[in-house]
Parts: sequence; structure tokens; C-alpha cells
Amino acid sequence: MTLTVPFDANIDRRRTGSFKWSLYPEDVLPAWVADMDFQAPEPVLRALREAVDHGIFGYHFDSPPLRDALVRRMAERYGWPIGPRDIVFVPNLVSALNFTCLAYAELGDEVLMTTPVYPPFLNAPTNGSRITRTVDLAARTDADGRMHYEIDFDALEAAITPRSRIFMLCSPHNPVGRIWTRSELERLAEFCLRHKLLIGADEIHCDVLLDDQTHIPIATLGPEVAAQTLTMMAPSKTFNMPGLGLGFVIATNPEVRQRFEKATAFYMSHPGPMSFAGALAAYSPESQPWLDNLLVYLRENRDTLASAIQELFPKVRYTVPEATFLAWLDWRDVPLPAASPYQFFLEQARVAFNDGAAFGEAGRGFVRVNYGTSRGRLLEIIERMRRAVEAAGVSP
Ligand SMILES: Cc1ncc(COP(=O)(O)O)c(C=O)c1O
Repeated sequence: MTLTVPFDANIDRRRTGSFKWSLYPEDVLPAWVADMDFQAPEPVLRALREAVDHGIFGYHFDSPPLRDALVRRMAERYGWPIGPRDIVFVPNLVSALNFTCLAYAELGDEVLMTTPVYPPFLNAPTNGSRITRTVDLAARTDADGRMHYEIDFDALEAAITPRSRIFMLCSPHNPVGRIWTRSELERLAEFCLRHKLLIGADEIHCDVLLDDQTHIPIATLGPEVAAQTLTMMAPSKTFNMPGLGLGFVIATNPEVRQRFEKATAFYMSHPGPMSFAGALAAYSPESQPWLDNLLVYLRENRDTLASAIQELFPKVRYTVPEATFLAWLDWRDVPLPAASPYQFFLEQARVAFNDGAAFGEAGRGFVRVNYGTSRGRLLEIIERMRRAVEAAGVSP
């Protein structure tokens, strides 16, 4: 496939207010927070220009055309028959994760999740004085150093207590890049139904699929699963527009949905007119070629990074992500001279990754690498890592 979108451009994002590009000094290349260094699809840019030209930024609160587009998208992609009123718009999914804990768990109740996991999962229960209960994913390493993560169902069973109320699912999984298979999801759903756990399913990475595997929203496994599930999605990762601030929650069970709406009313803000305009354009068929191009580009970036790791740092165990633009590297077998690989690469390579320890104890000794950037910058990141490890004189 010949790419028609210039993902190779090194767009200067410094001094634009970008969080990713302003947290560290100028000589540091950022490869941490999960936004990509690519412009959003042209139809999104056009819709935003039109909204600016109209020039009135009043309250919107809702978008019936976006509801209709999402109903169509769920039907076409997943055969999932939702109605427009099953959708609740939210300004971001982190708030939705937090409100899920407030709405479906009482003080002292427990929220279960598998680790390592996207850090706001860990704090969502405790922010509202609920209890976070983590279960490590099981990791096995093949002879070639590739790690593969699976759900440890025995450990999940053992973690159930009389106060267990919610299971928070990250699907596809950040940071380990797994697309959960149908049989894994079925087993998980059976577990949640048996223990009467609400499933809070964060499926924000559902469109960033790098191979031929498809995403299965857990709520589509059956009506009894849907009745106990709150699904969270957004255009923000897929179309690189997280700063525009729009996500949506789907709950086909009116009781589950109303409980969420009641918990959020007056506490959570609404998306604004720009985010509704951008999201509608992102989910229009005109933006699909951009996404098709993106997935080709990300796949090549993923493979470039994976080969470099295998060649340059054979002791590093790594997962080859099936989804997301995030790689997860295990440096525990390399004695880097620093408190953590994150610290080492920041100080010695001048590259900012995410510290694996932020993703739970199971992530200590790892870094998460955001490869959603131009090929040139990715190669520069790899070269900086190589030089730093060589200068440290350790055997990688
Ligand atoms: C699994 C997951 N959920 C939620 C978010 C953040 O979503 P939002 O910006 O809508 O809060 C991210 C961002 O990286 C993520 O990886």
C-alpha cells in the first residue's frame, strides 16, 4: 500500500503547549504520554476550521449526528445493535473510569484489575476511597525473547472477596499491547457474571489494531454480559485528537447507564462544540483512508523497533504489540547503572519513556515506549538508546 499521508514529517511541537513536548528539557526526545506526533485527518482539520469560521462557541452538550454515526459504527464493525440513547458523551475516559468506581462501588468496596495497566486505572478506585485490587497478568517468554501476556484466571478467582464489585478491563491492553481473544473474553465475562461484577471496559485502543486480529467489545458476547457492562471508547487515540476532549460510554442496560449519569451529573463537564465537530468528522468515511495509512505506518514502526531491540539488546524481553502505538520493554536482565531504566534513558540517552513502575509493581524494571512518531525520530530514539547502553559498558 502506497501511503498518501505524510507521517514521515517531523512536525515541530515545541512551544505549542503540548504536554508531551514541554515536560522535559529541549534536548530530550519525548516518547512517553500516549499521543502521536501526527496531524489529525484532513476531514477533522476541515471541520474544525469550519467551526472556527462560524465563530460561536456556545453550549452543545449533545450531538444527534454523532450518536447516529456511532450507532452505525458499532453495527458495522462489531454487529453490535446499540441505540442512540445508549450513549453517554464524556469529556475524557479517565473521568469515566473514576466515575465508574464511584457509581458502582460503595466506600470500602473493591475494584479488580490486571496489572501492569494504564496508571489511571490504579488510582480510579482510591480517588473515591474505594479499594484497588490488582492481579498480575501471567507473562511467559519465548526462546527469542518475546514476551506474551495472558490473564491469570486462577489468580483472579483468588482475589475475589465479599467486597468485589467491579472488574476494570483494558481492551486492547495498554501497556502490554494484547488484543484479548474471544475465548479469553468469554472466560473473563463468565467470571464477572458469576461474581456479579460490573465490567468497566476501557476500549479506547479498539481501532489501533496492527495485524489481522479484530477487536471484540466484551459487551457483544451476549445480552447478559451487555447488561452488566459499561463500554468506554473515544476517537482520541485512533485519530490522534486526545486534546480535543471527547469520549463516550455505551451502556445498553438503562439501569447501568442511569446510575452512571446520576453519578456524573453536575460533576463532569460536557465535550465542547470543537470536540463534537472533530469527532463527527473523524468517524466519517472520509477519515478512514487516513486510519488505514496510519495502521500501515505504525506496523512498520512497531517492526522497526522490535528488530532493533532483538539485534541491539538481546537480553531485553519485549512484547510485540498486537494493538496500540506503545511498546513494553523489560530491562530487568540488563544491569543499567541507574535507579530504573526510565531514569537511565532520560539521563544518559536524553529520551523520555514512561517508567514501567507507574503501571503497577509488575512494571518495575520496564519502560513503555511511544512509537507513534515519524520513522526518523524513532530511529533517533533507538540510536540514542544504543549509544547510552554502549557508553555504560553493560552487556545488553
Ligand atoms: C487505556 C486508556 N484509557 C484512557 C486513556 C486516556 O483517555 P482520555 O484522554 O480520554 O482520558 C488512555 C490514554 O493513553 C489509555 O491508554
